[in-house]
Amino acid sequence: MGIMRIGHASIRVMDMATAVKHYENVLGMKKTMQDKDGNVYLKCWDEWDKYSLILTPSDQAGLNHVAYKVEHDSDLDALQKRIEAYGIKTEMLPEGTLPSTGRMLKFKLPSTHEMRLYAMKECVGTDVGSVNPDPWPDDLKGAGVHWLDHCLLMCELNPETGVNKVAENTKFVMECLDFHLAEQVMVGPGNAIQAATWLFRTTTPHDIAFVGGPRNGLHHIAFFLDSWNDLLKAADVMAKTKTKIDVSPTRHGITRGETIYFFDPSGNRNETFAGLGYLAQPDRPVITWTEDHLGSGIFYHTGELVPSFTEVYT
Ligand SMILES: [Fe+2]
Repeated sequence: MGIMRIGHASIRVMDMATAVKHYENVLGMKKTMQDKDGNVYLKCWDEWDKYSLILTPSDQAGLNHVAYKVEHDSDLDALQKRIEAYGIKTEMLPEGTLPSTGRMLKFKLPSTHEMRLYAMKECVGTDVGSVNPDPWPDDLKGAGVHWLDHCLLMCELNPETGVNKVAENTKFVMECLDFHLAEQVMVGPGNAIQAATWLFRTTTPHDIAFVGGPRNGLHHIAFFLDSWNDLLKAADVMAKTKTKIDVSPTRHGITRGETIYFFDPSGNRNETFAGLGYLAQPDRPVITWTEDHLGSGIFYHTGELVPSFTEVYT
């Protein structure tokens, strides 16, 4: 029961036509719907629900909300009680607030990011179907990402004023939403400040991550690829399409993931993330990275942080 996985991200884009082109031709997603307000809905080929990404027209980039899917409709009532008891206000949005989607429990994380939980979304099936399926479809475009994998939210962290939204978010999602802590970065005197966390509900190292920074925002949404070879091909696609790459293929120490960071045309950071990391289980010991090894945690090969990685986000 409870949260199963990330369900969708709703992000703002400044030019819808170029944004759709990016998510279709670079990532390989397919447009499944457009509503009367001009919002565009897309899915990846290996996903079975109708959409995992909503693009909304705006004059600036960033995250509207991130949504996670729960197993049973009754989970929404149980989680609403827990979240309210924790002291966070919630709102139950009626079915149809988003097309093809059931009622949604809406609330804000301590970092003010909007999160929604839902139990129902129209199932349209994967692109290879569920009867004697082929391992991949014939009409893959671009990187051919499998699914929306996780998001990383930047959270205000200011040790001088005692503000730590990373720690507040982490406590909240662990106590109320039953997320498990896979890895954390501890900094400051005695490594006492929890500056970043990676948490899971599936069996992979993270379904959500929180990293400390000067202000709250969206760092990236990540899409899953099978292998290092697929990642290399994804980078080739980005070069061919003149997509702005932030960090070319490398490996994270944290989660062991293989990664590319790049930007959509509005400046929202995307990641293609390959490798299932390790078996994440509730009883697995939490991995801690100390400040002196932070570079290796983020970029394992060079061990050096890229300034834009922590400074540029929407
Ligand atoms: Fe990521």
